Amino acid sequence: MRLRNIPGAKEEIKESIFVVQDPEAWRGHWRERAGMDGSLYIEVGMGKGRFIMEQARLNPGIIHVGIEMYDSVLLRAVQHRVAEEDKDGPFHNLFFIRMDARQLADVFAPGEADRLYLNFSDPWPKARHADRRLTSARFLERYTHVLRQNGELIFKTDNQELYDFSLETARNAPAWELIASTMDLHADPVLSVGNVMTEYEEKFSAQGNPICMMKLKLLKPSA
Ligand SMILES: C[S@@+](CC[C@H](N)C(=O)[O-])C[C@H]1O[C@@H](n2cnc3c(N)ncnc32)[C@H](O)[C@@H]1O
Repeated sequence: MRLRNIPGAKEEIKESIFVVQDPEAWRGHWRERAGMDGSLYIEVGMGKGRFIMEQARLNPGIIHVGIEMYDSVLLRAVQHRVAEEDKDGPFHNLFFIRMDARQLADVFAPGEADRLYLNFSDPWPKARHADRRLTSARFLERYTHVLRQNGELIFKTDNQELYDFSLETARNAPAWELIASTMDLHADPVLSVGNVMTEYEEKFSAQGNPICMMKLKLLKPSA
């Protein structure tokens, strides 16, 4: 997400009651933290948080966690959350964490998550940066340490090259099974049902870009 550094964002995030400041302390205990027993869904790279907030409202029995690595972006999500809570009341099933997805296994125990969302992840077009793509083999392996068996990973993008790369990576990853794929989500009568749009999705589909979506199932979790 292209967002200029906001002066003071780091300090505000460090003090925000809407950001879990000690996420490693809750590893293996997120359901206790939430005070509920439901499924746990994580959005990796939530940006300004619109998608995860709408999902949390629509699914009050599911614990939602939005992670974001940049303070300035997370600050925008926090500000949106404050406005949203002023309007419709507090969230009881939503947590924000400032962290890099590389550290997922430090914050979530094996099998703790039921679903991961990757929405409009940065494409990192240069070949030498391929490992930074959130759908690279390296990242798919990281996700196997936190997702339960048969848990799902759902990836959306309008970037055709990133999508092709991600499909190929998923097909070559024995721990995963590709269970759905479309190159035009909004035109798909089955897969589009219940789709919640992200900020990027709204912007790019308004420009006429079709949205690609794939869904993977984790066959072999790692400890
Ligand atoms: C292009 S934006 C998409 C935002 C939102 N998901 C949407 O669809 O509107 C991608 C976001 O992922 C975040 N991100 C990228 N790599 C990350 C990582 N390794 N860990 C956590 N967040 C990451 C970026 O900072 C950025 O805010």
